[in-house]
Amino acid sequence: MAERDYGYLKDKILALTGVDLNAYKEAQMKRRIDQLISKKGILDYPQYIELLKKDRDAMEEFLNHFTINVSNFYRNPEQWEFLDKEVIPLLIKRFGKNLKIWSAACSTGDEPYSLVMALSRHMPLSSIRIYATDIDKTILYKANRGIYLEKSLEDMPSDLKAKYFTRLEGKALEEIVSQKGNEDLKTLRVGYKISDEIKNRVTFKQANLLEAKDYPRDYHMIVCRNVLIYFTEDAKNSVFRRFHDTLVHEGILFIGSTEQITNYKEINYIRKNSFFYERTD
Ligand SMILES: C[S@@+](CC[C@H](N)C(=O)[O-])C[C@H]1O[C@@H](n2cnc3c(N)ncnc32)[C@H](O)[C@@H]1O
Repeated sequence: MAERDYGYLKDKILALTGVDLNAYKEAQMKRRIDQLISKKGILDYPQYIELLKKDRDAMEEFLNHFTINVSNFYRNPEQWEFLDKEVIPLLIKRFGKNLKIWSAACSTGDEPYSLVMALSRHMPLSSIRIYATDIDKTILYKANRGIYLEKSLEDMPSDLKAKYFTRLEGKALEEIVSQKGNEDLKTLRVGYKISDEIKNRVTFKQANLLEAKDYPRDYHMIVCRNVLIYFTEDAKNSVFRRFHDTLVHEGILFIGSTEQITNYKEINYIRKNSFFYERTD
């Protein structure tokens, strides 16, 4: 679809959904959207916008497609090891065990649930609370549901997997699959359900990283991984500045392995290593 018409699409999507596509890297996002539209046999953006206006399923499909929800438990395990050995003990030393932690862009819940399990090695479950947000409502339904493929658990420490997951198959799984909203599990033969003791420690909420009003205050750690890679440099920069304001003095920001804060000194962070930064002022 023509480059010049992408501006039209961005304006219409913003008006319809509140999502500002200007903040996402253009070439990559346009390619993803064009692939989706072409598969439907639609020839131009105006026709697609008309479809989105009248068809809720098409709108949901669009939102799911642009958000890129891939996630798994203990993603990049060496970083979680550093979190366990260095960062959590440091946070406890500085702020005690009543920690305020935000998993921003939490997708299917693998990340906030991994945080609860990682923290459970250092404190009782009852004192753990994680705030977890994502822009995508459908994904938050899946996060709340808490059922996962075996593949999502591959990087997990085996003791935590044994302690906090129940293997589901046969009738028990069929019952869940037959419930409305769970059609995506239709081809699943074996599923893993996370325990309620972990689930109950997480509060999910829909929030947009591009909206200043969606940023909480006074957090000891923010975990935001594998989403800012899709943002433009300007959007990324503004998110890092807002994270700085959300953190308390000496609070920690945990980012993805391919995301770096190049101007971290300017925003008053120190770099502990390539994925952990600390607010200095
Ligand atoms: C690839 S997943 C990352 C999940 C998890 N943090 C991880 O590293 O495994 C990216 C998530 O970012 C969310 N997302 C995209 N744009 C967002 C925005 N503007 N605000 C909040 N979340 C957003 C998507 O819905 C998706 O669930």
